Amino acid sequence: MTPHTVELEAAGPLRGRITVPGDKSISHRAFLINALAPGCARLTGVLDSEDVGRSRDLVRALGVEVTPDSGGYRIDVPERLHEPSDVVDCGNSGTTMRLGAGVVAQIDGLTVLTGDHSLRRRPMGRIVEPLMSMGATIDGRQGRSLAPLVVRGGELRPVSHDLSIASAQVKSAILLGGRSCGARVREPRRSRDHTERFLRAMGAELREEPDGELVLDPSTWHAVDVRVPGDISSAAFWLVAASLVPGSELELPSVGLNPSRTGALDVLRKMGAEFTVSEPLDEVEPQGLITVRSAELHGIRIAGDLALRSLDELPVLAVAAVMAQGETVIADAAELRVKESDRIARIAMGLRELGAEIEERPDGMVIAGGGFHGRSRATLDANGDHRLAMAFSVAGLLAPTGVRILHADAVRTSYPGFFSELRRVQQ
Ligand code: S3P
Repeated sequence: MTPHTVELEAAGPLRGRITVPGDKSISHRAFLINALAPGCARLTGVLDSEDVGRSRDLVRALGVEVTPDSGGYRIDVPERLHEPSDVVDCGNSGTTMRLGAGVVAQIDGLTVLTGDHSLRRRPMGRIVEPLMSMGATIDGRQGRSLAPLVVRGGELRPVSHDLSIASAQVKSAILLGGRSCGARVREPRRSRDHTERFLRAMGAELREEPDGELVLDPSTWHAVDVRVPGDISSAAFWLVAASLVPGSELELPSVGLNPSRTGALDVLRKMGAEFTVSEPLDEVEPQGLITVRSAELHGIRIAGDLALRSLDELPVLAVAAVMAQGETVIADAAELRVKESDRIARIAMGLRELGAEIEERPDGMVIAGGGFHGRSRATLDANGDHRLAMAFSVAGLLAPTGVRILHADAVRTSYPGFFSELRRVQQ
C-alpha cells in the first residue's frame, strides 16, 4: 500500500524491465461493453486498480457474474440486466460513470450513479443530453450537468449526435446506448477508438462514413474474450523518467500501441527521445516492446491532434518539457482542466514550486525548459489525481531538491504498484 506522503530525490539511473499494468480504458470496456452481450467471456491482463474495480462492481450490481479465474476474470452475462438494488458509487472514475450511463440507460429500471468529490464536479451534461434525446430519463444536480445522476432507462431510439468536443467517453456512451436501436456519432477530431475495435470484435455492425461519422446499426453482440495490453499512459511515466535520468535504460514489454493512444510516443520522438519499438503483436489492440534509454530532449509545440492523442500523458510530458532545452508550447488541451483535477493549473503550480518557469494559458501552457531551479524541497499535493502523483514523482527524480508528495496514494486509481516498481529499478 502506498503511504499518503512520499519523498523522492534525484537518483541514479533507472535500469531493468517493467511490465506496466493493463490498459485502464480497455479494462473498463472489458466489463462494461461485455455486459451488453449475453454469454460468457474470459478477461486477462485486466488492470487491478480502484478505477477499474468500480466498473467491475457496477456490472455485478446489474446482474453480471464476475468470477476471479486464473489471474483474470470469467464473466457470465445474463439475457437481461436488472436495476441495481443500491446507489452505484463510481469513485474517481469518469469512464465508469459515462460509459456506465450508456449501459444503464437501456435497463428498464432506476440507477443512481454517484462518485467522489472530484467526479461530482466533472461535466456530465455531455452524456446526459444525448442519452435523453435517445429516450432515457435522467436527472442530476445543477440542471443535470453534475452527478449524482438518476437514470431511468428503457427502450431507446436512435440519434445522430455531433460532439462539440472530441471525447471517447461521450462517443462510447452513445454507441453503447445504441446497442438495440442504432446510433450515429460524429466527433470534431477522432478520440481513442477502443470502443469501436471492441464492438467490431463483438460482431456489431459499425461503419465509418467517408466524412468520419460513425454509424452503428442494430445488431446482435456476443461477449468476447479480452487480453488487455499494458497501459501506454502508465508506460509514459517510465518513458519520460528513463529519457531524463542519465544512464537509464528500461524495457517495457507488451505495451498497447493503438495509434489513437500513441501521441506521447510521437511527442517524445519529436523532442529527441531515444526509444525503439519491437516484438509487435497485432491483435484487436496492437502491442509491442518499448526499449528506452536516456537522451537530450528539446522543446516542441504540442497542439491539435497531437495534443488530443497525448492528453492523459501531458502532465508527465510537461516534466519532460521542463528538463528539455528550449521552449515547449502546449495548446488545444483545455479538456485537461476537467479531468480528475484541473491538470493545467495543478501541474503548472506544482512544477513552478520546484523552480520551473511555466506560463499557464486557458488551453495549455508555455514551459521555458532548462531544468528545475528550486532552492528547498517543495511539498506538492497530488490532490486525489493519480497522474499528478506520478508526474510529480518523476519531477522529484530530476529536481536537485527532491520533492515531498501529499496524497501520493492516488496512484491506486491506475497504477497501485508504481512506487514499488520505481524502487526496484533505481540503481
Ligand atoms: C477515456 C477517454 C479520455 C481519457 C480518459 C479515459 C476512455 O477522456 O482522458 O482518461 O477510457 O474513454 P475523454 O472522454 O474526455 O476523451
